[in-house]
Amino acid sequence: MELHRLPVNPRAARVNDAVERLASFAVRTLDRFRGRAAGYDDEHYEFVGGARDELRKKHYDKSLRLLWKAEARAPWSSFKDCTHEERALVDMAERGMSEAERAERRRIASAEFRRLIDESYTPAQKRALVKVLSAIGHGEAYAWLVSATLLTEVKSTGGKAALTMQVLEEAKHFVVMRELAQAFGVPIPRQSAWEYLLLEGTLRAKGLDKFFGMNVLVETIALSIFGMVAEYPGLEVLQMFHLDESRHTALPVNYFLEFPMSDREKSSALGRMRRLVMALPAIPLVLYLEPELAELGIDAFDFAGSILRKSARLSVRAGFLTEEQASKQNAFFNGVFNAYCRLTRPNHTFKNFMEADTSRGEAVKQTEREIFAQV
Ligand SMILES: [Fe+2]
Ligand SMILES: [Fe+2]
Repeated sequence: MELHRLPVNPRAARVNDAVERLASFAVRTLDRFRGRAAGYDDEHYEFVGGARDELRKKHYDKSLRLLWKAEARAPWSSFKDCTHEERALVDMAERGMSEAERAERRRIASAEFRRLIDESYTPAQKRALVKVLSAIGHGEAYAWLVSATLLTEVKSTGGKAALTMQVLEEAKHFVVMRELAQAFGVPIPRQSAWEYLLLEGTLRAKGLDKFFGMNVLVETIALSIFGMVAEYPGLEVLQMFHLDESRHTALPVNYFLEFPMSDREKSSALGRMRRLVMALPAIPLVLYLEPELAELGIDAFDFAGSILRKSARLSVRAGFLTEEQASKQNAFFNGVFNAYCRLTRPNHTFKNFMEADTSRGEAVKQTEREIFAQV
C-alpha cells in the first residue's frame, strides 16, 4: 500500500517520548497505591479477570443470536427497531399468510390492539393484569439499573460482555412493558411498599449480592409471572421476555463457575442474613397480590411456593445456599404458608406449596426445566 508519509521533527518526537515515559512512571506509581477505577488490565489488553470466553459465549453471543425486535414481536408498540432486511422478512411472512391471518395481524398491528385487549378481558381482569404486570414493569426499571451497576462490578471481558446484553435487554423490557400496561387503559398503580423495599434493597446491595437480589430472586418472580400469562390474548410478547429472563437467572450460576465465591463469602452468617433481609419483602408482596392472582385463577401460595423453590435451586447452584439450607428454608416457608392458610381459609388442609408450578405452556415449561433442572 502506498502511503504519503508526512515529515515529523525527530527532536520533538524524542522529547514527547521522554515526557510520556516520565508521565507513565508517575501514573503507574499512583496506580499501585490508589488502584484504577476501571478494573481494566491494559498490559494484557483484557479486563481484570481475563477473557472468560465461555461466559461471553453463553450470554453475549447467545443473547445476540436470540435478540428479538419489538417492532416485529410487538407490532402495536411504538418501536421501529427492525433492520431493512428484518422489515422485508416480516413483509414476506405476511405475503405467505392467508387473508384471515393478514387481517388478524393488521388488526393487532394497529391501534386496534387496545380493542383486542378490551374484548378479551373483563374490567376486573384488566385491573388485575395491570397490577401484576406493572409490579414487574417497575422491576424492569430496577433490573436495567442493577445490571448497569453490576457491569462495573463483575470481573473479566466475558463477564462484562454478558452484563452488557442484560442492560440492553432490560431497557427494551422496561419500555415495551410500559406500553403494554398502558394499552389496557386502566390506571397504572405506583410501586407497593414491598416492591419499593425489595428493589431499592437490591440496588443498594453490596457488590455481587445484587446478583442474588436481582438475577436470582426478582428475575425468578418476573419469569414466573411471564410463564403464567404469556399465553393470554395480547400478551404473546411476554414469551420473549420469559426467554430473556431465563438467561438472566442463569447468569450468576455461570459467573460463579468462573469466579467461585470464597468459602467465607458462602458461609458468612452476616452475608446470609443480609440476603435474607433483602429477600423478605417478596413474601408480603405475593400476599398483597393474592386478590389479583386469584382473579387470574392462580393461588398466591402456589405461586409463592413455586418462586421459592426455583430461587432456592438457583441459590444452591450459584453457591448462595447449601442443599441443606435450601431444604430447611423451603420447609420453613411451607410451614408459614400453611399456618397462614389455616387462619384465613376455611377447610384448609396441609399442602406442599413448594411442589406447585404455575407456569403454563410446553415451551415455557421446557425453558424452565433447562434453567432450574429438577424443577
Ligand atoms: Fe427484564
Ligand atoms: Fe432480566
